[in-house]
Amino acid sequence: MSASPNNNREVKLVRHVKGAIHPEDFAIADTIVPPPGPYNVVVRNRWFRVSISTRLMAQEDAKAAEGIPFPPLNPGDTLADGAIGEVVQAGSACSLAVGSLVMHPFGWREYASVPEHDCRLIDSDDPDPAAYLGHGWTAYAALTRGIQVKNGDTVFVSSGAGAIGSMAGQIARLLGAARVVGSTSTREKAGWMQDELGYDAVVTRDGGPIAEQLAKAAPEGIDVIVDMVGGDQLAAAIGLAKDGARCVLLGALTAELNPDKASLQAPVTLDSCQIIFKGMTLQGFSADHAPDAFGLWIRDLKTWKRQGRIHLPAATSKGIESATSALRQACAGQLKGVVLVEL
Ligand SMILES: NC(=O)c1ccc[n+]([C@@H]2O[C@H](COP(=O)([O-])OP(=O)(O)OC[C@H]3O[C@@H](n4cnc5c(N)ncnc54)[C@H](OP(=O)(O)O)[C@@H]3O)[C@@H](O)[C@H]2O)c1
Repeated sequence: MSASPNNNREVKLVRHVKGAIHPEDFAIADTIVPPPGPYNVVVRNRWFRVSISTRLMAQEDAKAAEGIPFPPLNPGDTLADGAIGEVVQAGSACSLAVGSLVMHPFGWREYASVPEHDCRLIDSDDPDPAAYLGHGWTAYAALTRGIQVKNGDTVFVSSGAGAIGSMAGQIARLLGAARVVGSTSTREKAGWMQDELGYDAVVTRDGGPIAEQLAKAAPEGIDVIVDMVGGDQLAAAIGLAKDGARCVLLGALTAELNPDKASLQAPVTLDSCQIIFKGMTLQGFSADHAPDAFGLWIRDLKTWKRQGRIHLPAATSKGIESATSALRQACAGQLKGVVLVEL
C-alpha cells in the first residue's frame, strides 16, 4: 500500500477483454490524487470488491449491454467497484470529518477522490467489509422485497456458493425456510455449502442432468426459486415448482460467465403453461430497486451475527497486485462468497 495520495496505484484496462480474463488486459498505473475540491474527499481505500460483471463491462461491445447499471470500460479507464476506506482529506464544504470510515463506488485503487454525496458513513466499531461490500443485502432485499419467504418453504438457490447465493441460502433459512437446496459446479463446493452454509442438499453442474438431481433434492417440490443462473437450472426449478411458487430472478450467470464471451442474453425455454396453471410469480429484481433495505440488512445482520446464526463467506486477497488474479479466479468459478481485495 502506498503511503500517500501522491503515490497512488490503480488498476487500468489496457485492452478490451476477449473471452477469458488475461493478466495483460490490465496494468497497475502510478498516479497522483490531487487535493480535493470543496465537495470531494480523498479516501485511503482499505478493501474493495471484485465483481464478475467487470469482465462483461471490459468487453469492446459492453456499451451494447442495454440496461446494465455500470458504465462500459475503455482502454485507459480505471476499473471501479464498491470500496471501504478512511477519509484522509476533506474539501472545504464537506461535512465528513477526516478519519471517517466510508463506503463508496471507487475501488480498484489505493486512494480515491470521491464526491461526498457518493460516500456512505459506516460503523467503525464493526467495519466487517463482507457485511457492507458483500451481496448479503442483495439477497436480503430479494427475499424480503422481491418475494417473501414463508415458514416451511422449500427454497432453491441457483449459484448457491456465489456472492449473492452464499447469503441467499442462509437468509432464506433465517426467514423460515424448512429446506434449502443450492446449486454449484463441483462436489467439493457442494460439501462446503452443506458444512458451512447449512444447505440441506446441493445439485452440481458436474453431477448429471440438473432436473433429475433437483427432483431428488426437493422431492416435495419447490416453493421459492432464487435464480442467479438462468438456462436449464431455471427451467428445471420451474418444472418442480409447487402451486403458488414464487421465483425471483437476479442474474444470468450462464450468459455472463459464458467462457467464449460474456453477455446478458440467456435464452431459456420455459413451460409457460406450468407457470399459468401453478399460479406462479416470476419477479425480476435489482437490489437498486430497494435502497432502504440496506439499513434493515445491517440491522438484522447484527442480530444474526450476535446469535452466531450467519456466516459472511469471503475470498480475500492482499494488495492491489492480487486484484486481476482475483477477478480471473472469480470468473473461473474458483472462489466462494464475495471476492475482496484488502489493501
Ligand atoms: N439483481 C441484483 O441486484 C444483482 C446484484 C449484483 C449481481 N447480480 C447478478 O447476479 C448474478 C450473480 O452475481 P454474484 O455476484 O453472486 O456472482 P458470483 O458469485 O461472483 O459469480 C461467480 C460464480 O458463478 C458460478 N459460475 C461460473 N460459471 C458459471 C456458469 N457457466 N453457469 C452458472 N454458474 C457459473 C461459479 O460458481 P459455482 O462454481 O458455485 O457454480 C462462480 O464462482 C450475476 O449475474 C450478477 O450480475 C444481480
